[in-house]
Amino acid sequence: MSGTRFSDIVRLGEVDSTNRYLSEQARAGAEEGLVVVADHQTAGRGRLGRRWESPPGTSLLCSVLLRPSLGPEKLHLAAVAVALSAASACASVAGVEPAVKWPNDLVVGEAKVAGVLAEVVPGPEAAAPLGLVVGVGVNLTWPGPPGAGGTSLVAAGGSTVTADELLEGLLDELEGRRQLLDGALGRARLADEARRRCSTLGRDVLVELAHEEVLGRAVGLTDEGHLVVERDGERQVVVAGDVVHLRPPPGAGRYQA
Ligand code: BTN
Repeated sequence: MSGTRFSDIVRLGEVDSTNRYLSEQARAGAEEGLVVVADHQTAGRGRLGRRWESPPGTSLLCSVLLRPSLGPEKLHLAAVAVALSAASACASVAGVEPAVKWPNDLVVGEAKVAGVLAEVVPGPEAAAPLGLVVGVGVNLTWPGPPGAGGTSLVAAGGSTVTADELLEGLLDELEGRRQLLDGALGRARLADEARRRCSTLGRDVLVELAHEEVLGRAVGLTDEGHLVVERDGERQVVVAGDVVHLRPPPGAGRYQA
């Protein structure tokens, strides 16, 4: 938005994927802060090679280019900054306050209302910082494919908002969190916010990794935002994977995994 580093916004009616489009711009040397938003994607990408589909005009579909000077092991925190900004924007713009299910799903109860996909792209020169394209899909009025257990901001009791209104809120929220990425203290603050918002902590979880499954209790997030899972007194740090919450949180009525 104007006055922030996110003022250069490409608006598209239709595109295959805003992440694919922005990754191409990033490889060609686009500067940090470039934003792409579309009404419709014909080949929207989800995490772990899945598709992300929504009828035209029912969702916020956007991608943001970040180039923080962070090593690859800390880049996950940049995606966390975007997810937290999207969650805050849902609260301030639509009146729905999602939690974050690790790694970066926005959920209302156990129902997913938004997803985040981060993709690393090399810098234009070897010495330049890596780029991170972070895509966000928020269900405004469409709850996701039938049977997928999703919800929308409207179905979750929120007000009807446009994709533009929510994008503006997200980019405003992101400006401050992006600055936090530049210093160790700021990154610690971001990790603390992620811990407060994370609905996975304290839950029994099944983590699906590429070649194995990890069963245990989610006991913490590292300062890089990675998940710490404990089983039989042994702790394992999970960097990437898909999480299933196995039991309801304390006080909830029924099993919802
Ligand atoms: C997930 O699987 O939860 C992540 C979904 C991310 C979807 C968004 S929509 C805008 C951006 N462009 C894409 O192709 N994917 C992301």
